[in-house]
Amino acid sequence: MAEDVNGAVPALPRRLVVGISGASGAIYGVRALDALRELGVESHLVVTRAALLTLSQETDLSADDLMGRADVSHRLNDVGASIASGSFRTMGMIVAPCSVRTMGEIATGVTSTLLTRAADVMLKERRPLVLMVRETPLHLGHLRTMTALAEMGAVIAPPLPAFYAKPASIAEMVDQSVGRALDVFGLDWAAVKRWDGLKGPAGE
Ligand SMILES: Cc1cc2nc3c(=O)[nH]c(=O)nc-3n(C[C@H](O)[C@H](O)[C@H](O)COP(=O)(O)O)c2cc1C
Repeated sequence: MAEDVNGAVPALPRRLVVGISGASGAIYGVRALDALRELGVESHLVVTRAALLTLSQETDLSADDLMGRADVSHRLNDVGASIASGSFRTMGMIVAPCSVRTMGEIATGVTSTLLTRAADVMLKERRPLVLMVRETPLHLGHLRTMTALAEMGAVIAPPLPAFYAKPASIAEMVDQSVGRALDVFGLDWAAVKRWDGLKGPAGE
């Protein structure tokens, strides 16, 4: 990050970009927005058309319900939006969930929407970019794309359940994955159940 004339690094605004693409698990994006609200972090949302489809298939939420959870909601084709520029300072971006189509587009740098442009900005500005990629099984092209993105500095964070947290519901599984992804930005969401070492006879 750029230093000022005194050599100090200015604090970043508590502001995060949230992209929701059309992989299964729109609820991950919904809960990321809820978490940011609880944490007092300004959220900037951009959603793909396919994500609105999965939202309607997987939840009872409308597009308006989703947008209403964000502080700022941007149109997908608005490449003139604030988040399209590196000069608009943010803590980074999470794509939750991230489809392999969106992942592939981010990896090429040939971006066609505000979502992928915003992600490209994170990479060029060396800001954290967390991709909750959801697809299975993965073919070699998917794996190579993930490798390329990891080499560019992105964090590949597939939403996989942590059974050690003993989730009692799908909601708890979702929140654990979202919270662990938010850890990358230094955000500590209360919903996360943290491992604190083995307890009892096996670990004393
Ligand atoms: C119900 C449903 C579930 C889907 N699940 C996935 C998925 O888990 N991962 C994925 O990469 N694509 C999935 N897709 C396909 C994507 O939505 C599709 O490739 C779309 O073009 C992605 O566009 P986007 O990246 O602009 O959101 C799903 C589509 C539907 C309708």
